Amino acid sequence: MAFISEKKRSHSCGAVDSQLEGQTVVLMGWVNSRRDHGGLVFVDLRDREGLVQIVLDPGKAGTAVAKKLRNEFVIAIEGKVRPRPEGMVNPKMKSGAIEVEVALCQILSEAETPPYVIDDPKVSEAVRLKYRYLDLRSHRLQECLKLRHKVTKVVRDFLSDQGFWEVETPILYKSTPEGARDYLVPSRVNQGTFYALPQSPQTLKQLLMIGGTDRYFQIARCFRDEDLRADRQPEFSQIDIEMSFVDEDDVRAINESLLKTIWKEIKGQDIGTLPILDYQEVMNQYGSDKPDLRNPMKITEVSDLVENSGFKVFDTCLASGGVVRALGLPVKDVVSRSQIDKWMKVVKDHGGAGIVWIKKEGDEYQSPVNKFLSQELLAKIYERVCPEGYGTVLMVSDKAPVVSRSLGSLRDILGKQFNLIDTSKDVFCWVVNFPLLDYDEQEKRWVACHHPFTMAKDSDVAALKSGDAGEIAKVKAKAYDLVCNGHELGGGSIRIHDNHIQSAMFKALGFSEEEAKHKFGFFVEALTYGTPPHGGFAWGLDRLVMILAGTDAIRDVIAFPKTAKAQCLMSETPSEVDRHQLQELGIKLSKPSMTSQT
Ligand code: AMO
Repeated sequence: MAFISEKKRSHSCGAVDSQLEGQTVVLMGWVNSRRDHGGLVFVDLRDREGLVQIVLDPGKAGTAVAKKLRNEFVIAIEGKVRPRPEGMVNPKMKSGAIEVEVALCQILSEAETPPYVIDDPKVSEAVRLKYRYLDLRSHRLQECLKLRHKVTKVVRDFLSDQGFWEVETPILYKSTPEGARDYLVPSRVNQGTFYALPQSPQTLKQLLMIGGTDRYFQIARCFRDEDLRADRQPEFSQIDIEMSFVDEDDVRAINESLLKTIWKEIKGQDIGTLPILDYQEVMNQYGSDKPDLRNPMKITEVSDLVENSGFKVFDTCLASGGVVRALGLPVKDVVSRSQIDKWMKVVKDHGGAGIVWIKKEGDEYQSPVNKFLSQELLAKIYERVCPEGYGTVLMVSDKAPVVSRSLGSLRDILGKQFNLIDTSKDVFCWVVNFPLLDYDEQEKRWVACHHPFTMAKDSDVAALKSGDAGEIAKVKAKAYDLVCNGHELGGGSIRIHDNHIQSAMFKALGFSEEEAKHKFGFFVEALTYGTPPHGGFAWGLDRLVMILAGTDAIRDVIAFPKTAKAQCLMSETPSEVDRHQLQELGIKLSKPSMTSQT
């Protein structure tokens, strides 16, 4: 009797355990490993649920194929579950107390010798990405995909129960500014024109609110052509949410509730109520708008202590509106000069001039500036920055943003280097009161901190409309970010629902009326036909699963990810296209590729 068509799989490999002792099972899976033992062949059979040991006797008619079996062959077997002989029990395996005595075995598919052994941690990532379909067979990646599925199910159930509708929005669309470059798709039918793949469904979900959808969500694919990092991909997914008739608190509340549900369902943990932190305070204390609150170090203000100290660098900095702030490294061992030189480079990379340190040896305070700063003053600084009475003070002076960036980055590096971060827990917070706009020194223009559809705080709307640069700089946004362990897990805002304010925003961003009309005319027009006050939020789904999976690489939780150079090594994407395709699209390459010349 043939497997698959007639003999159906009765259990998955990972589900066979002692409870099935004495029963006949039909299993299908991959040969994970094969051992020949004095006439009998032992195979660990693998499927996505786990491994089970099966025993075949090549001398018997039904199992004669045992001799041919090799790693990664796909086979089907029928056999009886029996206890393993004494001394052969493997407590590390779920099915370690039993084995299956095979009566029938059929090879469903042979396999070439794979380029590496599945689950071998020593294989380079480049090789694993080239053979991603083999890597996906590993226990590690199977667990990640399973987790991702569980998370999306919890999200869909939760949001559906709260009255949200899942609505799909187009992928071939118009540019939505989220701060990155667009991926463009040329149109064949309308030559010379392009679709942009959405950086997020931002305008579309707002149009759904104008369309009366009220509560929307989508597991949305987003595309951003930007520099990649460990927690960024060019193509990623958001849990995208939009709600009508709400303010900041309402949107945060529903998302906090979703966060709690996810941690409860997936990790069995109660995470409590999230602190709501002010953007400026967070920048001052942690030097980042996505602080890792598991790291106990905080940045301390010392400008008041060193004012008029006689040390020229500090005096000049403070006189020109700068600040002097410090990190206390709470480590008892004396830190070497060469070590501090390395951290000096971090500060310089962030535009700072360097570090002024203070160490305590016995009752004496040492510092490269002890010619300028008295022992008394060094003691005052030391006591404020290192109240425990030990450790090293690291001071940086400059304009506040440079000091924040420098010390924020040092805080992350020192936290990891000295194992100060308790990685056994997840620590969350909301960050609020972001500025609405940020001045881009390179482009010499204002850019939206979140995006151009974000509403100003009610008290700041007049300042936004005034168009005055000094006033605009002070405008705060109705925006909020959800932060976990130093990652921005999600972000959102209350939107502008008034077309005049939206036009003022485009003007502040430096769009000419013409440009604003060309890019967003349809959207501003839509705002005029009765727009409910609305707001929303988007979670980085990949980042969420990455944190839940306890991995540092976003690639682990995406079935077919791209490299840091935005390539898929398996399919060799992106790739050249042939000349005819380009001709049809009306495209001529300025630098012809090999294949386009054929
Ligand atoms: P934002 O741009 O903050 O907001 O994106 C929301 C969340 O998406 C995740 N994310 C990414 N994940 C992986 N790779 C990337 N390249 C990447 N870029 C962003 C982050 C981020 O917090 N439309 C708004 C949301 C809104 O206002 O409702 C938006 O896209 O976790």
